[in-house]
Amino acid sequence: MSKQTDDFFKNIVSHAKEYGFVFQSSEIYDGLSAVYDYGQLGSELKNNLKTYWWKSMVQLNENIVGIDAAIFMHPTTWKASGHVDGFNDPMIDNKDSKKRYRADQLIEDKIDRYEKDGKSDKAAQLQQDLDNALNADDLARLKTIIEDHNIVCPISGTKNWTDVRQFNLMFDTQMGAMADGAEKVYLRPETAQGIFVNFLNVQKTGRMKIPFGIAQIGKAFRNEVIARQFIMRMREFEQMELQFFVRPGTEMEWYNKWKETRLKWHLALGSNPEKYRYHDHAKLAHYANAAVDIEYDFPFGFKEVEGIHSRTDFDLKQHQEYSKKKMQYFDPEINQNYIPYVVETSIGLDRLFLTVFANSLVHEDLSTEEKQDSRVVLKFHPAIAPVKAAVLPLTKKDGLPEKAREIMAKLKLDYNIQYDEKDAIGKRYRRQDAIGTPYCITVDHQSLEDNMVTIRHRDSMEQERVAIDQLSSIIGERVSWTNLLTQLI
Ligand code: GAP
Repeated sequence: MSKQTDDFFKNIVSHAKEYGFVFQSSEIYDGLSAVYDYGQLGSELKNNLKTYWWKSMVQLNENIVGIDAAIFMHPTTWKASGHVDGFNDPMIDNKDSKKRYRADQLIEDKIDRYEKDGKSDKAAQLQQDLDNALNADDLARLKTIIEDHNIVCPISGTKNWTDVRQFNLMFDTQMGAMADGAEKVYLRPETAQGIFVNFLNVQKTGRMKIPFGIAQIGKAFRNEVIARQFIMRMREFEQMELQFFVRPGTEMEWYNKWKETRLKWHLALGSNPEKYRYHDHAKLAHYANAAVDIEYDFPFGFKEVEGIHSRTDFDLKQHQEYSKKKMQYFDPEINQNYIPYVVETSIGLDRLFLTVFANSLVHEDLSTEEKQDSRVVLKFHPAIAPVKAAVLPLTKKDGLPEKAREIMAKLKLDYNIQYDEKDAIGKRYRRQDAIGTPYCITVDHQSLEDNMVTIRHRDSMEQERVAIDQLSSIIGERVSWTNLLTQLI
């Protein structure tokens, strides 16, 4: 990261904390690594992002329905899905610092260093060696690579490494009283399996015809070996996943459609298209016949925000085998029974939050010849802004607060509104800019006589005088979901 991008990333983290978006979990006890809490504005923003996703999936598509499955699932689920045996990262410990690392990430950091030092050939060769070792699950080879390239522990500076071992990323716990032979259960590492095991329940009770989709938003848990970059890699996070069930042989058509649809969804939020790119997977998971990531250009480089996978019939077949229950669908159009193929779209809500934050945080220089000035603005799309409007009486007396409260009482039935009477009006505007509020409504003495107020627009900072009666429709015009959703159809 360059100094400039490093500073920008630090700004994001400190702004998110200062204005009540994201806090470190259990901060008073020095925090819990890779676990975060969303504050009063963060939870509003997160809820709005969920609503946007849910509406675009479930409300706009007649053939997609949503569910809310439990976090705990029968443990055999994870045997069938392959997570018990295969959801691993290769880890290595340094015996001097007692720090644990992901072996592949230590090597990737070395590749980056070779690139930065202009040793592109060496970087390419090392990348090839790493890919070969990972593809072959060759843990001994990973250790040899680390030793051969003189990779040292960033803390101790030594090469005193343990062997590389596989580390399963699932958290487990006990269900039931210990004395009765409690059962080991897992905290789900993805929400997708809750959809697969309910495939027939939903298909039958909802009379769904293929192609159809099941969407879900919920928490997932992964015991990441190392966690870094704020809410990018967390141990408790949230996913928004769609499993779209299709007739075998049509999956590539749907895969391409979802690939396009999902990028459009991101761009509708007003993001700069140059900040996004597709990244096709060179190495496919054993269950996939196509896979692509939508990546965003974070301050620390392009990284995955969302994955689109053509998962074949792998999961349903596995559940059929392990549960001994048929997972077939009868297709009346072709008069055939089959196990459907699945195209999955899976987005991390926390990563989406970070893209939206990074994309919206702007430092504007407003200096004129007379005076230096600047402001920090979160230019969220109005539909996802945590607070839609702030009502501000110009002074704390002369009946202005009462008038402002009257306006607020009406508006709050439709929108999340803040009331603020503290400090000079300019300072209050800046506070609202910093949390991304699209409108500030100022009530002054004239308002008591003519029932008009000044409305200030966040992005242009322009102000206009409008009738109090019109406020609701003016705000509604820009913050309504229609603005976002019409871009998708
Ligand atoms: N069901 C498919 C699946 O879980 P994945 O690529 O492992 O696929 C999907 O995860 C998305 O979940 C990622 O694109 C990312 O946005 C998010 N995600 C995965 N691990 C995460 C973590 N540790 N912290 C935050 N988000 C994570």
